[in-house]
Amino acid sequence: MSNLLVTGGAGFIGANFVHYWRQHHPNDKVVVLDALTYAGNRANLAGANSVSLVEADIRDTDSVESLLREHDIDTLVHFAAESHVDRSIHGPAAFIDTNILGTMSLLTAARAVWLADGGKPHRFHHVSTDEVYGTLGPNDPAFSETTPYAPNSPYSASKAASDHLVRAWHHTYGLQVTTSNCSNNYGPYQFPEKLIPLFLINALHGRPLPIYGDGMQIRDWLHVEDHCRGIEAVLLRGRVGETYCIGGGAELPNITVIDTLCAAVDAAFAADPALAERFPHAPAARGVPSASLKTTVADRPGHDRRYAIDETKARTEIGYAPARTFEQGFAATLRWYLDNEDWWRAVLDGSYRDWVDQNYASR
Ligand code: NAD
Ligand code: DAU
Repeated sequence: MSNLLVTGGAGFIGANFVHYWRQHHPNDKVVVLDALTYAGNRANLAGANSVSLVEADIRDTDSVESLLREHDIDTLVHFAAESHVDRSIHGPAAFIDTNILGTMSLLTAARAVWLADGGKPHRFHHVSTDEVYGTLGPNDPAFSETTPYAPNSPYSASKAASDHLVRAWHHTYGLQVTTSNCSNNYGPYQFPEKLIPLFLINALHGRPLPIYGDGMQIRDWLHVEDHCRGIEAVLLRGRVGETYCIGGGAELPNITVIDTLCAAVDAAFAADPALAERFPHAPAARGVPSASLKTTVADRPGHDRRYAIDETKARTEIGYAPARTFEQGFAATLRWYLDNEDWWRAVLDGSYRDWVDQNYASR
């Protein structure tokens, strides 16, 4: 039996992890700590039974310490972060504050609670990114746990710094840590500023699909549920002090992802005439290909060209392998966005911020 504290559990991956954990470990206690920034959404946790959501900031060390004690937490899974590269280019300060100082605050609280008086069994799992390794050339070997760090954006630099802090708290103080560095996630509850949900929703509204530069940047696409399984494998079978790279085994150029998305939207409209009534501005509603919305825009400054993950260590040591192909994962994701229009409409119009009031007022 474990008592988990999930930071950032109202965000995209954190919320998927909470749903996953409730389903697969129903006897564990799950507490979510989330500051509910623009990316945090209480609605993401709807249906997750017996989960307490505490609205607090990871930089508030005293509150974190109190939570660890009050709920007798033995496992902290750290997702909370500023996560969008484009935002980090426009406003890096929030990334330094949350991702670096916030992680140090959690480490400080964990050390105070878990290592005092001879210590108690515990685990601090840090969720990081493959972006800390920088960018790959077309023929370079994929990133692995031994690839030197070379972050290129304010976001990835802040995540790299947080990884180093986690490592240092293990080596210096003996905190029982693990870290996972994963590739690009996609799936339910992803905030529509990231490529896949942004382009899906734009295609449904007949809005341009803004492709940065030549669209030949490569990412390794990981369905969020596979990522959750990877983190579970690290928690259950990973070695303390180690890092694990988690990928989706789906290295694709952006343009291929975008063309797949456009073709899938067109096929969905062809198969279901009701979609044309729900989304009359979609080109697909008139039989026009969604790909007609593709628009080339200026490239992202410092845009990394290619990410890829060699997951040999995770596969051989902890038995992790992605369960879905990109085609399967993407089809399920499209279905989810079509079936959950209320969720993304509330995000687009900002009303998700009042979700609790709305939800309970109607009961
Ligand atoms: P997200 O932006 O969707 O969610 C972040 C969550 O953290 C939100 O709920 C937000 O309210 C919360 N948060 C932000 N600042 C906080 C603070 N100071 N205190 C408490 N909570 C705070 O992010 P995501 O895409 O779910 O990513 C989760 C983690 O996974 C991040 O650490 C990110 O770096 C990492 N990661 C993401 C991806 C990806 O593709 N999305 C890939 C690799 C790694
Ligand atoms: O690799 C893991 C990282 O993946 C995570 O650490 C980050 O938190 C997560 O945001 C993601 O970063 P990316 O920058 O790769 O994701 P994003 O969805 O923003 O962009 C994916 C690719 O699509 C990237 O090459 C930029 C491009 N893109 C993105 C947007 C939003 C476009 O061409 N147009 C767009 O409008």
